[in-house]
Amino acid sequence: MSRQNVLITGATRGIGRACVEYFVRSGWEVTGVARSATALAQLREELGGAVQIIQADLTTKAGIAAVPQKYFDAIILNAATFAPGELLRGEDKFEQLWKLNVRSNHRLMRRILPELRKKGRGHLVVIGSLGTDYWPPHLTAYVATKYALRGLFLGWEAELKGSGIRTTLVAPGATLTSSWDNEEPPLEILLPRQVAEFVGMAIEDGREGRLVIEV
Ligand SMILES: NC(=O)c1ccc[n+]([C@@H]2O[C@H](COP(=O)([O-])OP(=O)(O)OC[C@H]3O[C@@H](n4cnc5c(N)ncnc54)[C@H](OP(=O)(O)O)[C@@H]3O)[C@@H](O)[C@H]2O)c1
Repeated sequence: MSRQNVLITGATRGIGRACVEYFVRSGWEVTGVARSATALAQLREELGGAVQIIQADLTTKAGIAAVPQKYFDAIILNAATFAPGELLRGEDKFEQLWKLNVRSNHRLMRRILPELRKKGRGHLVVIGSLGTDYWPPHLTAYVATKYALRGLFLGWEAELKGSGIRTTLVAPGATLTSSWDNEEPPLEILLPRQVAEFVGMAIEDGREGRLVIEV
């Protein structure tokens, strides 16, 4: 029997990278997407032949087209840009964040979810954020995009109801990744490995709906 396969966006660092490691350990075939060819080559070198890599900037149409239009047993929509910024003052980062955190996911799901629909199975996992529950004031631009992603998730969930495809929104609290390189991380913080195990178990156990993970 062929191995199960998972598509993971933002596969080279942080939560995405930890998910790649988790699924390789669990015997899955993994297709990982990111922009840096060097980081992708290193990922493949470190984790071996079970990892397929796709170099793509998902904010572009060419980047979306680089992802094969085929069936995946699981899809983990993880890639996002985290940047502090307000909606009304300071540098306007909203559009930049929107392009990856929201629009790329919409475009990618228009491309791939029909493949899961044809088979009537598969599992879509969207990585959201606990930030959508409490709106940290200096992160409103980022949180607004994660809230929009939550809206997309609710749309996918509604449209896929009864299709056989499972849908899960995992909302992690602060997690120690490169996202915090320019910010003081909180003292209590999750590790990417903990989020990846949570995601992995959600897929293995077929858990659906919005699931929160925090310290
Ligand atoms: N860290 C936290 O505290 C936290 C908390 C709650 C939720 N989250 C969510 O968890 C997810 C992962 O966050 P993280 O902190 O692990 O991120 P991260 O460490 O910054 O990693 C981001 C990944 O996305 C890739 N990426 C960035 N821009 C891309 C683009 N345009 N096209 C394709 N790939 C791109 C990066 O590789 P390249 O740069 O090479 O493209 C990298 O592999 C995000 O959805 C984030 O919103 C994070």
